Amino acid sequence: MAANSEFDFDRIIDRSAVPGEKWGRYAGRDVLPLWVADMDFAAPAAVIEALQARVAHGVFGYTGPWPTLVEAVVEGLRRDHGWTVEPDWLVWLPGVVTGFNLACAIAGEPGDAVLTATPVYPPFLAAPANTGRTLQRVDLVLRDGRWQWDWAALEAAVSARTRLLLLCSPHNPVGRVFDATELRRLADFAARHDLLVCSDEIHCGLVLDAATPHRPLAALDEATARRTITLMAPSKTWNIAALYCAFAVIPEAALRRRYRHAMRGLVPQANVLGLVATEAAYRDGERWRQALLAYLRANRGRVLEAVAALPGLATTVPEATYLAWIDCRAMMAARGIDDPAAFFEAAGVGLSDGAAFGAPGFVRLNFGCPRATLEAALARMARALAA
Ligand SMILES: Cc1ncc(COP(=O)(O)O)c(C=O)c1O
Repeated sequence: MAANSEFDFDRIIDRSAVPGEKWGRYAGRDVLPLWVADMDFAAPAAVIEALQARVAHGVFGYTGPWPTLVEAVVEGLRRDHGWTVEPDWLVWLPGVVTGFNLACAIAGEPGDAVLTATPVYPPFLAAPANTGRTLQRVDLVLRDGRWQWDWAALEAAVSARTRLLLLCSPHNPVGRVFDATELRRLADFAARHDLLVCSDEIHCGLVLDAATPHRPLAALDEATARRTITLMAPSKTWNIAALYCAFAVIPEAALRRRYRHAMRGLVPQANVLGLVATEAAYRDGERWRQALLAYLRANRGRVLEAVAALPGLATTVPEATYLAWIDCRAMMAARGIDDPAAFFEAAGVGLSDGAAFGAPGFVRLNFGCPRATLEAALARMARALAA
């Protein structure tokens, strides 16, 4: 494919040559790491060139966001999601995890509750306790081959102490892109129970099918926008997680003031190199992103084919992200295995253990890697299950 040869996602870059969590976990062992959510691809050339130019300048004094950066993000949100935001709605952050912990910290009082849908990205499960809140969880349910909301269970889970609905949209790990009807029901639910909403939309640039566009929850209507803190970042889409730069979009002025107040003295500025990379990514990263999505769609296809052929494993089609959420329970029952992540790790494939997401018996596979790495990992999984 022309786009792929131009961008070369097939190129294997030796990540064990530099410190890093993904490959460092298995240093010196023959385990292919398909766990933590970053990709084995180089960032877009436009991002690397912007960083190189900034590094060549040589002076790295304290630096906040600047107008052309803000313009690039505002324009990117309009272009990619049809969402018009005012520049002063943006609150810059060193990370999205920081962003949703702050949302918990300003939601009601200590002892109040935060409601989220599980399984979910593990720091969602820790954030309420980090900030003296309690966690209320409601399980997504698998219906017609798709993970869906259980509306009755959601109503049953909310209580008089619930102050915050913590959403992951698109959803990690189940890969759902929630549609307009689901978002409308979630917004109505939040309004009915007068909940603050924190919508983590970090995966919004990784929607794999044009037929299921990402819709920011806060773009639904003004009333929903007023109660919503949207969190976004360039880090997943353009693979720059360790540059530590994210932002919240908070349209409502009083909520924004409370949020900024909670940051005081605790939350540092985003890193200057992260800010530089963010401007380049939003302004000049679109062709790379489209080529990435084409590559990820093909990888997703390979994962779906391979898993369908493996006895005792089942998965659903990730509509966004480079993450596949795999149900191993039938395999576990058939083979008397109680830890599927350990089983595949022993076979040379490092996956994320679903238990950390609130769903033991599942694993999460990261297919954001060159095809050859993915094929080797899938072959190892098949060999382990054939044995
Ligand atoms: C849903 C979600 N939110 C947040 C993060 C991490 O955000 P950050 O590195 O900006 O704290 C991840 C990383 O995997 C994620 O999947």
